[in-house]
Amino acid sequence: MRADARRVVAALAGVVAAGVVAAAGAPAASAGQEPLIVGGTPTTIDEFPATVIFNVDGAQHCAGSLVAPNKVLTAAHCTDGVKPAQMEIIGGQTNFSDTTGEKAGVTDVWQNPDFTMDGMQHDNSVLTLDKNLSFKPATLVQSADDPAYQTGADVTVVGWGTTSENGDVSDGLLKVTVPVADNATCAEAYEKIGDNFDKASMFCAGVPEGGKDSCQGDSGGPAYVDGKLAGIVSWGQGCAREGFPGVYTNVGNDYQVISSHLG
Ligand code: ARG
Repeated sequence: MRADARRVVAALAGVVAAGVVAAAGAPAASAGQEPLIVGGTPTTIDEFPATVIFNVDGAQHCAGSLVAPNKVLTAAHCTDGVKPAQMEIIGGQTNFSDTTGEKAGVTDVWQNPDFTMDGMQHDNSVLTLDKNLSFKPATLVQSADDPAYQTGADVTVVGWGTTSENGDVSDGLLKVTVPVADNATCAEAYEKIGDNFDKASMFCAGVPEGGKDSCQGDSGGPAYVDGKLAGIVSWGQGCAREGFPGVYTNVGNDYQVISSHLG
């Protein structure tokens, strides 16, 4: 449920500081799966150079993607209620704990005006940095009709988020590849538990049996299809649960309005 997103963003700093251990009773990833992102594998920033760390008040908050030398695309639920002065962007780091990255402050935030915390539609924001970063920006999918959103297309998600539901965040950058899930099936699963899946501004990705997903702390980070930024990590019912794929912002659907803020 959407309350998850709010609670998690607020709690993440605590998770990092306290190194909270997975709560008893939390569904474990499927047997035999590596507990990374959830069910993923290590990667490096060289493989996904546009991926940035998005800290708030000096603590891990979300991720994002460099989409122009001084612009970062992230999730609106990561910027809601946060002032630019509290934000810091770090590019070029594989490990969260490294101090080798390029840092930038944020001077301005454009948050999609159609976003609401309750509905999570149009979950995208563009941050303006106080300097250019030197990494190659991501290329965006430009339309909701793009083949990237066809059921079964391979979506690769990367981030430093938790490696299981209620688990610990990852120090090293992780990736996982999951197929785009059928929209109608996903909508039905979420409607059954009272969440409204907006087919226009969202898409789902995951394996039916669960075990592979993005999770808390991955929010705002990239979901690539064929090397293009197709999605932004947005929300889900827990993480990697059977029958509940992860939900991503449909970047193609909002391409026009996003690109109008890339200067
Ligand atoms: N809302 C979460 C965050 O703020 C991301 C949740 C993604 N969930 C999922 N099951 N894919 O970090």
